[in-house]
Amino acid sequence: MSKEELYQTVIPQIQALVEGETDLIANMANVVAVLHETFHFWWTGFYRVEGKQLVLGPFQGPVACTRIEYGKGVCGTAWQRGETIIVPNVHLFPGHIACSSASNSEIVVPIRKEGEVIAVLDIDSTEYNTFDAIDQTFLERISL
Ligand code: SME
Repeated sequence: MSKEELYQTVIPQIQALVEGETDLIANMANVVAVLHETFHFWWTGFYRVEGKQLVLGPFQGPVACTRIEYGKGVCGTAWQRGETIIVPNVHLFPGHIACSSASNSEIVVPIRKEGEVIAVLDIDSTEYNTFDAIDQTFLERISL
């Protein structure tokens, strides 16, 4: 199956999973599990907005940094801009926060609730240029 076909299968599954549950952390945990198992990313996880910081939420993959300031790193920048950021080569992104030296490309998607960014979905790959408009289109459909 192509990446697009995989997303077409997985996104409705995710929506069905979260529709029946109101707990944010439980939903984040299942979303991460589905994405990580399907695509075998290096690191897949959420950072939750807590005041002026992002705090590590449910994830799969290696240990990660727990707090990221507003506007810092790819995650904090995506939160600040309120838009998805695709980074083909993390070593060229000014201020990138390297939680794992194995990570080479990344996508960060802000998650909104009632207009406010409440979290970001962060996915890392050990390959360069992993993420494109297809990932962005489908990952932006995820609501919690
Ligand atoms: N690279 C991210 C930090 C989070 S880790 O990749 C899991 C960033 O620059 O915001």
